Amino acid sequence: MEHKEIDHITGTETTGHAWDGDLKELNTPLPGWWVWIFWITIVWGIAYSFVYPHWVIGTKVLPTVFDWSSRGDVHKALDAAKTTMAPQFAKLEKASLADLRSDAALSKFADKAGEAVYGDNCVACHGTGANGVFSGSGYPNLTDNDWLYGGKLEDIVETVRVGIRSGHEDERTNTMAAYGDDKTLNADQIKNVAGYVLSFSGNSLAGADIAKGKQIYLEEAACNACHGDDGKGVSEIPGAPNLADKIWLFGGSAEKIITSITHGRKGVMPAWDARLTPAQIKAVAVYVHSRGGGK
Ligand code: HEC
Ligand code: HEC
Repeated sequence: MEHKEIDHITGTETTGHAWDGDLKELNTPLPGWWVWIFWITIVWGIAYSFVYPHWVIGTKVLPTVFDWSSRGDVHKALDAAKTTMAPQFAKLEKASLADLRSDAALSKFADKAGEAVYGDNCVACHGTGANGVFSGSGYPNLTDNDWLYGGKLEDIVETVRVGIRSGHEDERTNTMAAYGDDKTLNADQIKNVAGYVLSFSGNSLAGADIAKGKQIYLEEAACNACHGDDGKGVSEIPGAPNLADKIWLFGGSAEKIITSITHGRKGVMPAWDARLTPAQIKAVAVYVHSRGGGK
């Protein structure tokens, strides 16, 4: 055993470490109160781990003294919210769209509930619509006033219920041919008709013969059957985008338009009737309708 050295000025034991010969490290004991707190925190920590969820065996969290968990709290809060909202959802379930228009309180509830449904199910494709964040190419912006299948509340309810080219028995659909892939039109003809399409929105395509494009649009390919003579669509034939309004579903550059004409697009919107309740569908339609300059 080494001899204990006591520093004669402080009367405290040294650790035996020395720097530059004279400078010595004192081994000052920790104050009693500090040591006590240290031990108490350890005891507290162990006790705590039995009171709140902590110990895990495999994937199972061992039960705790109070059987509390933050997830359990969430479930309780959700159940409570469901119970409070149940009467309003029941009312919404039965309400006709006319009721919704006349009952301001119910319509407000539908809008709020619809916001939640939209956030959970629609944002991924259609974007939030807030802060200018809209959907990507192929996914219509639901907050403008440009509608493929109609912007009335009834139309939106139906679109959401059955989807578009969704495989649902009542699906909404309108299929534009793939004029290039089918060899109905050759590359030159497609360029000419693309130039004519661009002219609807005041744009031009270098090298396109607009007169020939017009001929194809109105006669050879009869694009006007779905898109209308002026590109603004035909009300009895929904689904074909308005080609004259500078709002493009798949992009308005010459290249994108040529791709649309060459390959067709066939955008798919899922049907929601199996995943959402009729009340939820009504709610999300109210939400979309109120945001979207709905008609
Ligand atoms: C998987 C992607 C996807 C999801 C999720 C989705 N949609 Fe769509 N939706 C589309 C596509 C794609 C179209 C356009 C289809 C086309 O090209 O005609 C569309 C079209 C629509 C339209 C028609 C717009 C018009 O101009 O007539 C409405 C309304 C709509 N969606 C609402 C919703 C709502 C409400 C939800 C959530 C419940 C939702 N969508 C979820 C992809 C999606
Ligand atoms: C049978 C109806 C029909 C005919 C005929 C038709 N289209 Fe379409 N067109 C559509 C539909 C429906 C869409 C949307 C496609 C989708 O959602 O998948 C579309 C989309 C487009 C787009 C993309 C628009 C956008 O906003 O991005 C262009 C461009 C276009 N068509 C041009 C033409 C041209 C040019 C012709 C003739 C050569 C033509 N269409 C003939 C139904 C038609």
